[in-house]
Amino acid sequence: MWVRRIELTDFRNFKRAQLSLDKGLNLFLGLNAQGKTNLLESIYAASAGGTYRAARDGDMIRWGQEFFRIDLEVEREPAQVRIEFSVSAAGRRFARVNGTQKVRPSELGDYLNVVMFTPDDLNLVKGAPSERRRFLDREISQVSPAYRDWLDTYNRALAQRNALLKQIGGDARLLHAWDEQLVGAGARITMRRARVVADLSGRADEAHRGIAGDDQKLSLIYSPSVECGASLDETANAFRRRLSELAVAEAARGVTLVGPHRDDIRFELDGVDVAAFGSQGQQRSVVLALKLAEVGFITYRVGQKPVLLLDDVLSELDAGRRLRLMELVEMGCQALITSVEPGCAGLMPAGAKMFTISAGEVSEDGPQGRRCTEGNNIEAGLHNAAEGLDGDPRVEHGDRAEPEGSLGRDDGTGKDAVRDS
Ligand SMILES: Nc1ncnc2c1ncn2[C@@H]1O[C@H](COP(=O)(O)OP(=O)(O)OP(=O)(O)O)[C@@H](O)[C@H]1O
Ligand SMILES: [Mg+2]
Repeated sequence: MWVRRIELTDFRNFKRAQLSLDKGLNLFLGLNAQGKTNLLESIYAASAGGTYRAARDGDMIRWGQEFFRIDLEVEREPAQVRIEFSVSAAGRRFARVNGTQKVRPSELGDYLNVVMFTPDDLNLVKGAPSERRRFLDREISQVSPAYRDWLDTYNRALAQRNALLKQIGGDARLLHAWDEQLVGAGARITMRRARVVADLSGRADEAHRGIAGDDQKLSLIYSPSVECGASLDETANAFRRRLSELAVAEAARGVTLVGPHRDDIRFELDGVDVAAFGSQGQQRSVVLALKLAEVGFITYRVGQKPVLLLDDVLSELDAGRRLRLMELVEMGCQALITSVEPGCAGLMPAGAKMFTISAGEVSEDGPQGRRCTEGNNIEAGLHNAAEGLDGDPRVEHGDRAEPEGSLGRDDGTGKDAVRDS
C-alpha cells in the first residue's frame, strides 16, 4: 500500500501542507526543527489514531489553534482509501474513511499500515519494559481488531481494580467482579503475544543475519507475567492462581501485581542479553532487525506491504545496514525518509522523489529542483558510507551543489556511523 497524497491543516508546525508522494522512495531534506519528523508523525497518526511520541494527542495541534486535520489518499488493494483524522483542543478525536464512514481512531490501522523507524527506537532494546509492550501492542493491534478489544477490556478492568485496591479495605467482592474480565482478556493477550513474539523472533533472526553479516542467532524471548499455558484455559487458570497468591501483597501495595501489564521481551544474541551486554552497534542491529521483522509480519498478515517511515536513520547506520534498508524499499515498500544531510540523495536509487521542508513548508522539488540522479545508487552509498555522509565526495559533485549551511546537525548527534563487527 502507499500514500498518494497528504493534506495537513494546523498539524504541529504545518499551517497547511499539501503534497503528492511517489509510490517508491520519497526523501525529505531540511535543517533541524523544520518539520521533518512532524510530517512522518502525521502519517503515523493517521494509521495509529494517535501520536507515536509519549505525549497527548492534543500536542499535535498547531499552537494556538482549535484542531488539526490530516487527510490522506492511500492506494491499497482492492481500492483506494481516503483517511481523515482530526483532534480538537478539547481532546475529541475524529476519524473517517472514504468521506462518509465514521470509524474509531484505533481502527485506522485497518486502512493504513506503517512501520516507523527513528533513532529513539534504540529504546526498544535499552528502555523500560513498557516500551516493548507498547511496540508489541501496536504491532498486533494493526492486524487484529480482536486484540484491540481485549486490550481495551483489560485496561479498563485493570484501572477499576487498581482504584478499588487503593481504597483502604477495598471490597473483596467488588474486586472479584473485575477479576474475571481481567483474567479473560489477560489470558488472551498473553497467548497472542507469545505467538507473535515467536513469529517475530524467526523473522528478526533472519533479518539480523543479513544486517550483521555473521552467524549469531538473534532470539526474542517473551517473559510473560503470567505463565503461558498450552491452552487458553490453562493460561487463565495460571492467572487466577497468581492473583489469589498475591491477594495480600496487592491489598498492601494497592496495585495489581500480575498480568500482561507486567510482561517483557528480552533480546538475546547467541544466548547473551543484548540490553545488558550488547555493544551500541549490536543494539542498533537488533532494533533494525526487529523493524524488518515488523515489515515481514505485517506483509504476511495483511497481504500488502506497509509504508516505511524512516526518520533520520540513514546517518546513524553503517554501510551494510543502509543497504539492507534500501533493499527493503527496492522490494516494493513505499518509504518516506528524512535527513538533514543533502548527501543522502546520493544513497537513493535513481528517480527517488525529493522534497525540501523549511519552517513548516514543503516544496516538492528538492533543493536542486529535481529528482535523485542516475549513478547515485545504493552501491555507491555502500561504498562510501564508512566515511560518514559529509565525507562523501558524491555530495558535492556535478550540479547537485548543496544549499548553504545545510550540512551537519547542530546538536552533534547522528554522526557516529557505527561499525560493529
Ligand atoms: N504543536 C505544535 N505547534 C507548532 N509547532 C510545533 C508543535 N509541535 C512541535 N512544533 C515545532 O515544530 C518544529 C519542527 O519539529 P520537527 O521535530 O518536525 O523538526 P525536524 O525537522 O524533524 O528537526 P530535526 O532535524 O532536529 O529532527 C519544532 O521547532 C517544534 O518546536
Ligand atoms: Mg526530526
